[in-house]
Amino acid sequence: NKGNYEHYMQKEIHEQPESLTTTMRGRLIRGGSCKAKSVLLGGLKDHLKTIRRSRRIVFIGCGTSYNAALAARPILEELSGMPVTMEVASDLLDRQGPIYREDTTVFVSQSGETADTLQALHYARENGALCVGITNTVSSAIARNTHCGVHINAGCEIGVASTKAYTSQIVVMAMLSLVIGGDTISNQARREAIIDGLFDLPNKVREVLKLDQEMKDLAKLLIAEQSLLMFGRGYNYATALEGALKVKEVALMHSEGILAGEMKHGPLALVDENLPIVVIATNDACFSKQQSVIQQLRARKGRLIVMCSKGEASLVSPGGSSRVIEVPLVEDCLQPVVNIVPLQLLAYHLTVLRGYNVDQPRNLAKSVTTQ
Ligand code: UD1
Ligand code: F6R
Repeated sequence: NKGNYEHYMQKEIHEQPESLTTTMRGRLIRGGSCKAKSVLLGGLKDHLKTIRRSRRIVFIGCGTSYNAALAARPILEELSGMPVTMEVASDLLDRQGPIYREDTTVFVSQSGETADTLQALHYARENGALCVGITNTVSSAIARNTHCGVHINAGCEIGVASTKAYTSQIVVMAMLSLVIGGDTISNQARREAIIDGLFDLPNKVREVLKLDQEMKDLAKLLIAEQSLLMFGRGYNYATALEGALKVKEVALMHSEGILAGEMKHGPLALVDENLPIVVIATNDACFSKQQSVIQQLRARKGRLIVMCSKGEASLVSPGGSSRVIEVPLVEDCLQPVVNIVPLQLLAYHLTVLRGYNVDQPRNLAKSVTTQ
C-alpha cells in the first residue's frame, strides 16, 4: 500500500523517521540518576564475550548493504579498538579469501536471501568463524544460518532501490559498535553523545526530508546529464558510493562515488566546467581536508554541488559560487544517515523526471538469489 505516495521508493524515503524509530525501539536505554545510558541488543548479548575476544571483525555484504557496513566501520574501529575489514561477498568467494576461527564475520543483508552473501556465510561457517547476521527479514536464510544477529526491523521494503533499510542498517551497526565497545570510562562521554544522537536522529531525518522540493529543483537541472560524480571521505565515503549507486540504478545515469583522498590519483583529470560533481563536506574531523578538495576542484572550474552543515554555506561556497545543500549537523558517526537522504530524494526525482520506472528499474530484481 503506497498510501498518499506515488511510488514505493518515495514512500520508503519519507517513512525513514518512523522506520528508524522502530529500529531503535526497546534497544536504547535512557539511563537515570545513577544508571548510564546504554544499548541492548537482545540477539547478541550471549555472544559479546566471543566477539570481543576475536582477532578481527569482517563485514560481508553486497551493494547497499556493503555500503552501510562501510559507513559504520569507522565507529566500530574506534569504539572496539579491533581491526575491521570489508568484503564484497562475491569477491571473498572469488578469492577464497582467508577467514579463520578467530574471526567474527558480520553478514549484512536486507532480504537475508542474497545468494553471494549466503554462499559467503556457508564459507565462513566451514572455516569456523563466528557468524553474525544483520538482516531485515525474520526467518530469512541468512537470519536462520547465522549463529546470532540483529533484526533491523525497518519494515518491509518494496522498492528495488534500498533506502530505509540502508539507514536502519547503519543505526544497528552504530548500536553494535556501542555494545561491542563496552562501557569503559575513557569513552563514556563519546558513547553518551552517540546515544543522545540516536534518540534525536528521527527528528533530524524529518528535518532533512524538507529538502524534497529543493532536490526536485536540482534534479531538473541535472535531467539531461550523462554523468554525475560524488566525492566523499571518512564517514561519508560510503555516502558518496551509496548516493552514486542510487542514481545509477534508478535514474539510469552514470554515477560514481569517489574517495576524495584519491582525487589527485586520477579522477581530477575528469574535472571541467560541464561535469556536475556533488561534494559531501559536512563538518567533522575531515572538514578542512574537504575544504581544500573544494578549492582544488574550483580552481579547475568544476561544476560543484556541495553538501554542508546548516549555516556553513559560506565556508564551502565563498560568495555563493556553487549550489549548496545544507543539512542538520549530527554526531559524526550518524551523519551518513542524514546525508544520504537528499541523495535518495535526488535519485528519486531524477528518475521520475527522466520517465523511468522508479520501483522496478530495468534488469534488476529486489533480491538477487542467483550467482
Ligand atoms: C526479540 C524479538 C522481538 C521482541 C524482543 C523482546 C524476534 C524475531 N524478535 O527481539 O519480537 O520484541 O525480543 O525482547 O522474535 N538473529 C540471527 N541472525 C540474524 C538476526 C537475528 O541469528 O540475522 C537471532 C538473534 O541472535 C536472536 C533472534 O534472532 O536470537 C532475534 O533477534 P532480534 O529480533 O534482533 O532480537 P531482539 O531485538 O531481542
Ligand atoms: C541497491 C540494492 C542492492 C542490494 C544488494 C544486496 O539499492 O538494493 O544493491 O543492496 O542486492 O541486497 P541484500 O541487502 O538484500 O542482501
